[in-house]
Amino acid sequence: MRHVEWSNRFSVGVSELDAQHARIIELLNDMAEAAACPEDGSRLRAVLSGLKAHAAAHFSAEEAVVRQVAPELLAFHQGEHLKFLSRVREFTPALDADDHPPMLPLEMFHFLKSWFEDHILGVDMQYAARLRHGFDGGGGSATGTDSGPAE
Ligand SMILES: [Fe+2]
Ligand SMILES: [Fe+2]
Repeated sequence: MRHVEWSNRFSVGVSELDAQHARIIELLNDMAEAAACPEDGSRLRAVLSGLKAHAAAHFSAEEAVVRQVAPELLAFHQGEHLKFLSRVREFTPALDADDHPPMLPLEMFHFLKSWFEDHILGVDMQYAARLRHGFDGGGGSATGTDSGPAE
């Protein structure tokens, strides 16, 4: 059973970044399955560590794009990525605790799913909109001067 589906509404218009988002969504589905069998803690930890690695690599690639197309959005966007990574770093020791609450894996999955959906649709879409306006929206200057909308 798939818990999160890739759809066009998640597309930021950069194929490399879309592919990374789609891979993260696949890992979220793996996470949901692993959370449904919490007795297999090693699988859960493996999926979580894959997700962390993919998210960190994706964030770097994405920040490089944001730096180019919408530098004024970078500080906030990077801050959101950092907050996420530090939150997720707390998950591994929490899972390792023998007496962790039985619902913890499922709660982690719900946090990750909501975070990625909200982040892609809210924060990532800001640079996606800038890409569309800057490069194929027509009408505006593409020289990076102050002719674009103010923040
Ligand atoms: Fe992203
Ligand atoms: Fe992002």
